[in-house]
Amino acid sequence: KKRVAILISGGGSNMVSLVDSMLNDADHPGSPCLVLSNNADAGGLSKAAERGVATAVVDHRPFGKDRAAFEAELVQPILEAGADVVCLAGFMRVLTAGFVRQFEGRMLNIHPSLLPKYKGLHTHARALEAGDLRHGCSVHEVTPLLDDGPILGQAEVPVHPGDTPDDLAARVLVQEHRLYPAVLERYLRGERAVLHLS
Ligand code: GAR
Repeated sequence: KKRVAILISGGGSNMVSLVDSMLNDADHPGSPCLVLSNNADAGGLSKAAERGVATAVVDHRPFGKDRAAFEAELVQPILEAGADVVCLAGFMRVLTAGFVRQFEGRMLNIHPSLLPKYKGLHTHARALEAGDLRHGCSVHEVTPLLDDGPILGQAEVPVHPGDTPDDLAARVLVQEHRLYPAVLERYLRGERAVLHLS
């Protein structure tokens, strides 16, 4: 099986959906080898440990603005775990080109918008402000440009009148939990056709 490391910063609900999809399917091409957080308080760490997945924390704060120094530490547990593929799942640090190149063609990210719309933060509020009738999430291969890189899958949701950003975030998150495991499994099997869920 391919060894999958998952990077998180917070609650880790997408991480849980990925881990459970691998652990609950004996024929899955992947196996979770590490859950790594930049934040020791990330709720996802205990959820990973409960599932028997190794965890590690590399706090970004001591490194200040020196992203390269942070990443020199961040990469160590990933290498030690022997990861074949890295999944960013609510990992809220921007990665440098140097880090991304180490995992070129084997690092995925989930982003809460229908890329190429709304790269960066506050995606739900921006979709509402724009008056969009459809919103959603995307899984893409990570390249040095933020929230760029080939799209591997997207899931759409409707925007309802009166939606708040939180309403929309919750509706999108349900789809994230379907999309990311489905894309990861296909990716590990070598399929690159874009997956569309609705
Ligand atoms: C998810 O909605 C994910 O798409 C988003 O953060 C949330 C993490 O939730 N990611 C980004 O905004 C990346 N820039 P989770 O920790 O429960 O998976």
